[in-house]
Amino acid sequence: MNDRNDIGLPARAAALDILAAALARRSGLDEALSAPGFNALPLRDRAFARALAMATLRRLGPIDRALDGRLAKEPPEAVRHILRLGVAQAFLMETPAFAAVATSVDLAAGRRDSRPFKGLVNAVLRNLLREPPDLAAADSLAPDWLMARWRAAYGEDEAQAIAATIAQEPATDLSLRDPSTAAHWAEALEGEILPGGGVRTTRRGDVAAWPGFETGAWWVQDASAAVAARLLEPAPGQHILDLCAAPGGKTLQLAAAGAEVTALDRSAQRLKRLTENLKRTGLAARTLAADGTAWRGGPFDGVLLDAPCASTGTFRRHPDVLWAARPGDIAALAATQARLLAAAAEQVAPHGRLVYCVCSLEPEEGEAQIEAFLRARPDFALEPAVPGEGGAPDASLRPDGTLRILPHHRPGGTDGFYIARMVRQG
Ligand SMILES: C[S@@+](CC[C@H](N)C(=O)[O-])C[C@H]1O[C@@H](n2cnc3c(N)ncnc32)[C@H](O)[C@@H]1O
Repeated sequence: MNDRNDIGLPARAAALDILAAALARRSGLDEALSAPGFNALPLRDRAFARALAMATLRRLGPIDRALDGRLAKEPPEAVRHILRLGVAQAFLMETPAFAAVATSVDLAAGRRDSRPFKGLVNAVLRNLLREPPDLAAADSLAPDWLMARWRAAYGEDEAQAIAATIAQEPATDLSLRDPSTAAHWAEALEGEILPGGGVRTTRRGDVAAWPGFETGAWWVQDASAAVAARLLEPAPGQHILDLCAAPGGKTLQLAAAGAEVTALDRSAQRLKRLTENLKRTGLAARTLAADGTAWRGGPFDGVLLDAPCASTGTFRRHPDVLWAARPGDIAALAATQARLLAAAAEQVAPHGRLVYCVCSLEPEEGEAQIEAFLRARPDFALEPAVPGEGGAPDASLRPDGTLRILPHHRPGGTDGFYIARMVRQG
């Protein structure tokens, strides 16, 4: 994005708030982007702040490495954030160098915690401008501990290929209420039809202003996320439980296929978004705010468990997950997933299907979870996916018929997912 002269300090201050929130807590990025103060800013400032914060988060590893080499002592957190944003403006945003430095110094001068460091901000940024850093270095795009996990799980080459997608700005994938309209929407939105029937577009800007949004002809859903619901082969008259449903991308797919959907989620707040999505698309589902580990209401012909997870596969749209996730989160989430899987199994009718998925790259939340489940529940068996089923990339099909979609498995990138389909024996 070009930096226009009339984009000033409020936009940079907003980018600082977004960056600080994104790195402080797991849902910080979404919270900052939906905060009333942020949304009261002029559209142009909001767009700049968002783009700057996202560009910074996508290259946070290389930016920090460049800063570490120039900081004798760790400055207060706000100062590091201001420096990060300054580097991103100077090298990733086409902001003129003098403006990147001057606005960063002004930003530091405007806050009590960073004011004493405005000279440092000036010196460090000027130093970097003289010797531009390598912000494309793939070996520092992910935190070391995650990179080590991906190496252990997938090998060096795959880990590098995963990391290389971190810096890419993703396209927007759409799922369609009526799949037969794919050609129409691909043309209207200057996109391409995805395997499985969605549309991918590189359009930018406010999706709510795009044709087809208001009439609910489509909803935003990553191509990988759309695969899981398709593996249930939803059909009119089937009763399907979506056990962790909000904000509802998969519920909408199941309802659009004509299934009778019960959409349950523990979070009433997130269910509100699901209800809004149903309203906009004119689709129907029964919605319930409840704990999926305790609720009983089956049996269902099909159960979808899109379990809460570390979400490390979603870094293309949520680069913050890489830096907000902690190693301990994974074990805690895996324990929750095991409880939800056990509860989901109880809701499946004999001969019914259970599809489990997570948008995580971590095997404890995927492969290991299903191996343990199948050991504990011999009345369930894997029903292998066939090549290309549901639009899954060929490279994602594992020998056992489960899917391990890695972010580089689709040209232009895709979210990382693990998906397993099982059938309950009679
Ligand atoms: C990965 S998200 C689901 C995304 C959703 N399926 C979609 O396609 O839009 C996981 C969801 O699980 C919900 N959740 C977490 N623990 C739960 C529980 N014990 N029972 C029900 N829902 C739970 C969270 O509130 C969150 O909305």
